[in-house]
Amino acid sequence: MSDTFTFGRRRAEPAPVARPEPTAAPAPAPKAAAPRSSYFLPAAQAAQAPSTQSGELRALCMSRLDATAAAAMTPERLRSEVERLLAEIADERRIQLSAREQFQLASELVDDMLGLGPLEPLLADDSITDIMVNGPERVFIERRGKVEELSIRFRDVAHVDRIAQRIASSVGRRVDEGSPMVDARLPDGSRVNIIFPPLALAGPCLSIRKFSRDVIDFDKLVRFGSLSRPIARILEIAATARLNVIISGGTGSGKTTLLNAMSRMIGATERIVTVEDAAELQLQQRHVVQLETRPANLEGRGEVSQRDLVRNALRMRPDRIILGEVRGTEAFDMLQAMNTGHDGSMSSVHANSSRDALMRLESMVQMSNMGLPERSIRNQIAGAIDLIVQVQRQRDGTRRVIQVSELCGLEGDVYVLNDIFAFEVTGEDADGGVQGTWRVNRAHPTFQDRLIYFGLERAWQSALGDG
Ligand SMILES: Nc1ncnc2c1ncn2[C@@H]1O[C@H](COP(=O)(O)OP(=O)(O)OP(=O)(O)O)[C@@H](O)[C@H]1O
Ligand SMILES: [Mg+2]
Repeated sequence: MSDTFTFGRRRAEPAPVARPEPTAAPAPAPKAAAPRSSYFLPAAQAAQAPSTQSGELRALCMSRLDATAAAAMTPERLRSEVERLLAEIADERRIQLSAREQFQLASELVDDMLGLGPLEPLLADDSITDIMVNGPERVFIERRGKVEELSIRFRDVAHVDRIAQRIASSVGRRVDEGSPMVDARLPDGSRVNIIFPPLALAGPCLSIRKFSRDVIDFDKLVRFGSLSRPIARILEIAATARLNVIISGGTGSGKTTLLNAMSRMIGATERIVTVEDAAELQLQQRHVVQLETRPANLEGRGEVSQRDLVRNALRMRPDRIILGEVRGTEAFDMLQAMNTGHDGSMSSVHANSSRDALMRLESMVQMSNMGLPERSIRNQIAGAIDLIVQVQRQRDGTRRVIQVSELCGLEGDVYVLNDIFAFEVTGEDADGGVQGTWRVNRAHPTFQDRLIYFGLERAWQSALGDG
């Protein structure tokens, strides 16, 4: 049994964790014409949906269900048992239920009992990439790069609380006043952040980055218009020729997806060690060791940071180190690794341009190594990184590579960047889609020798020729 929160105040009455309370508050009533699920009632309707019928059915059904027997049932068996009970109760009470309404109500009850309630249909929908819950009344999703509000409602704060606790318990945590922020993962690999009042003012909030089941490779990225065939070829050559690559972009711009697509170009014979906060990379190669950080426990002990893992990775005889996202003091160790023979490493960074990415790296190194002169930090960065790939989620929802820049070195105190590819917006199509082309710069890169060494110089030039 758990306490619940209502806008920061702890409520005295406990809320059941494992199953919905029989006195469940208003649930939107199923309508004959309702789409897919009664959770999807239009917003206006849902807000004032007549709760009596479905609320009553729900409550009676829960009170008649034998909890011990239900716990032992398979989900399919439980669903048909709930459906049978609903039909029985509807009969007794003379409530008209169509087969479809009965099925929907049964699904909601089972989702609440076993799964993540109203989130279940959203998790099952592969076209949805992000789910954002801002308290019980506001649920947003992202689909094809666009954010939209749904009419889905949780019954009340306690309902969101219960779902959040169920997610947190999978990583052995509870969300409460003492620890109001929890990062967790769903069994399918989706990343979840939970933040509760009093920190979140709108009530308990959940942010879910769904794990994409179908892997996005270069072919798909080209089809989506995220990059051109020549850019894909250049990135493939960069991976083969062991260039050190940084993928830079804003939140949700597609950094991890592109890193994943690139890392798939690494040869099967190489030993790859990946370091991530939450393992998202899906490498196909057999010789891969995936490392994941660990947060501190409730006593504040046992934390293993990305920096610890990068240092450990260096002792594991890696051919390549892939750091999912560099965000802190591990930047220093990563750059050192890149400068000391662990070339072909890749990482991503949260930044708005390739120059901004370099600034961010500088400040991260400064954080880890106070007092290191600026000049030597810049030298280290300029020596380590070969390519910066900038990605962006554009206004039409498309995620696109907008720049592929070569870091040529330093001129005085300034980084010299050469944009090999740069996306230029030329207009807009009838549907508001961004139109544009990639401008290409065919100059020989500073890592020409390396391309020659790997026998890839001609391939590089011919990809640029097609660009
Ligand atoms: N080029 C693309 N075309 C279509 N969908 C994409 C593309 N790139 C990424 N996505 C989808 O967008 C979502 C965000 O992508 P991703 O996780 O790669 O972004 P990110 O920049 O790493 O985000 P974060 O900043 O949260 O780490 C994912 O659901 C992913 O499947
Ligand atoms: Mg990411």
